[in-house]
Amino acid sequence: MAATGRAVDAFVRDHLTGSSAPDGGLFEAMQYAALGPGKRFRPALVMAGAELFALPHPSALRVAAAIELVHTYSLVHDDLPCMDDDDLRRGRPTTHVKFGEATAVLVGDALLPLAFELLVHPETHSRAEVRIELVRGLAVASGAHGMVVGQMLDLAAEHRVLDLDGITRLQELKTGALITFACESPAVLAEASGGERAALRAFARDLGLAFQITDDILDVEGTAAAVGKGVGKDASAGKATFVSLLGVEAARARADGLMEQAAAHLDCFGARAATLRALGRFVVQRSA
Ligand code: IPE
Ligand code: IPE
Ligand code: MG
Ligand code: MG
Ligand code: MG
Repeated sequence: MAATGRAVDAFVRDHLTGSSAPDGGLFEAMQYAALGPGKRFRPALVMAGAELFALPHPSALRVAAAIELVHTYSLVHDDLPCMDDDDLRRGRPTTHVKFGEATAVLVGDALLPLAFELLVHPETHSRAEVRIELVRGLAVASGAHGMVVGQMLDLAAEHRVLDLDGITRLQELKTGALITFACESPAVLAEASGGERAALRAFARDLGLAFQITDDILDVEGTAAAVGKGVGKDASAGKATFVSLLGVEAARARADGLMEQAAAHLDCFGARAATLRALGRFVVQRSA
């Protein structure tokens, strides 16, 4: 993950260097948001998938960076006063605290289309059909049938009781959709078989849920110093999560169970999926 992070950051930095023309500070704020010390977990999933299919590194890196840019935009907007109203992200002031709300909105607005610009470039894949499929996949995962409706449901979940099915659907959309695209995108690049793609999607579904359950547990059990963001926010917002519904211990057991289930979907890949399996274990063991 550290190696992936360094490669993605170098690539992103290259694409976030403005010209000498006045930009009102836009590129500085975009760099601040995109290069903050996050885990780069979604890029790591893409690069582990690239290993699975022996894909060329530069092409996978473009997809990894595109997904991370979408993720970063979602965090910048998620932290805004009109959303979760958070001051701390990745151990630093949130983008709107540092640069103002209007700039933070524009940073998100600019990071999102940059992701698609990266995907459509011929260096991502020589075949236009493959590039179109990547664009479609990222659009669906991040839009009104994916992350955005998940965020909408998440806001609606404040001061509401959701049952297990309701929370599962919310989490699958808000967090799972992008993680699923990260897992599936190497198979798209490799033009892999339907069976292999289905296996990766099934892995990602369980993994994404386990990832968000762990995020919810860290909101209860973590410290701001360790997780780099405010904690106790879900409870104070009255937000329905797996933890609010099941309690910490049962939520943890559920995340562990999901992880075992996730790993089983990789059996068809044998030893080639070792890095993906390790990333799965990281999801439930992480402390940040
Ligand atoms: C946080 O994502 C938001 C969720 C979807 C749970 P990460 O835990 O991947 O955040 P960074 O990128 O490491 O900061
Ligand atoms: C954020 O979920 C998910 C997206 C940004 C799509 P959270 O609101 O739980 O993430 P944190 O806890 O602020 O990182
Ligand atoms: Mg949120
Ligand atoms: Mg939040
Ligand atoms: Mg959270």
